[in-house]
Amino acid sequence: MRKTTVYDCSIIEIDKHHHEKGNLSVIENGRTIPFGVKRVYYLYDVPGGESRGGHAHKELKQLIIAASGSFDVKLDDGSQKRTYTINRPYEGILVVPGIWRELDNFSSGSVCLVLASTEYEADDYIRDYNEFLAYKKI
Ligand code: TYD
Repeated sequence: MRKTTVYDCSIIEIDKHHHEKGNLSVIENGRTIPFGVKRVYYLYDVPGGESRGGHAHKELKQLIIAASGSFDVKLDDGSQKRTYTINRPYEGILVVPGIWRELDNFSSGSVCLVLASTEYEADDYIRDYNEFLAYKKI
C-alpha cells in the first residue's frame, strides 16, 4: 500500500432515498463501498479552528462522510495533494491506505462519520510525516 496516490481516493455517491418526511441514505458492505465495514466512529464537537487526522494508515481503508455540516479533507500521497470540501450526507470520500490525511475547517455542529475496514490497531498508524515520506519512497 506504499504506492497509492491521491487519485486512488474518490468521492462515492451513497444511495439516497428522498422522502417528504426526510431523507435516508444506506451503505452496504461490498456494494456501496469496496470493503467490509468492521468499525464505525465519528468526530463531533470539534472546536472551531481545530484539525484532526494528521496521520496515514498502512492497511486501513475508510469512507469519510460529512453526516452533518461540512469540513475539508486534505489528502497527500507524499508527492501530490488534493483537498475535498464535503458537506453532503449522501457522499463519502474513499481513502485508501498509504495516504496522509488532515481534516479541518469543521463547521459548527458538524459530524464526521468514518466507516473503517478494520478494527482499531495502533500499529497501523503512521503519525510522523517524515516517517510517512520515507515509507512512501521505499
Ligand atoms: P486519533 O486517531 O488520534 O483521532 P483523529 O485522527 O481523528 O484526530 O484518535 C483519538 C483517540 O481515540 C486516540 O487516543 C485513539 C482513540 N481511538 C480509539 O480508541 N479507537 C478508534 O477507533 C479511533 C479512531 C481512535
